[in-house]
Amino acid sequence: MNTLFLTFLFVYIPIYTTACDITATLTSQTHQEIFAQFTFHNKTKSPIYQFEQDGQVEKVHITGMLCSINPTRLDVYSKPPVAGTKPNGTSQAFLEGFGYVNYVLLSDGAFMGMKAGIVCAAGDCGASRG
Ligand SMILES: *[C@@H]1O[C@H](CO)[C@@H](O)[C@H](O)[C@H]1NC(C)=O
Ligand SMILES: *[C@@H]1O[C@H](CO)[C@@H](O)[C@H](O)[C@H]1NC(C)=O
Repeated sequence: MNTLFLTFLFVYIPIYTTACDITATLTSQTHQEIFAQFTFHNKTKSPIYQFEQDGQVEKVHITGMLCSINPTRLDVYSKPPVAGTKPNGTSQAFLEGFGYVNYVLLSDGAFMGMKAGIVCAAGDCGASRG
């Protein structure tokens, strides 16, 4: 084996597969007022995003190492969530990679839509593969 191949095997692959830099867009597809919040792979929560109209989009940047150590969870609520509020819908999966993903939000559900450059496993990974 040559040096280049070894470099690829032991440096490139682990870095590529155990890090993420993901631009997530959240798109409301309901005229009802809804609220959404991520729980990231590092177990911290995002701010609460408020959606007041159909088509409203919010952008969230997710970065880190070992992003698939925990699932990335997106909860949607019909009222501003306080501690213990049950979500009206959840999209959850293990994510890695460099790319983007779009989530569609309804008053009673959150769904992964289009994505590119992202490895998604064991959860809601949308209809398309990739
Ligand atoms: C956890 O990950 C999120 C998304 O990448 C980031 O915004 C946040 O700063 C991280 N928190 C900690 C404590 O690393
Ligand atoms: C969301 O959940 C709350 C509390 O469980 C419930 O009262 C409400 O009707 C739900 N809204 C929708 C749109 O399902």
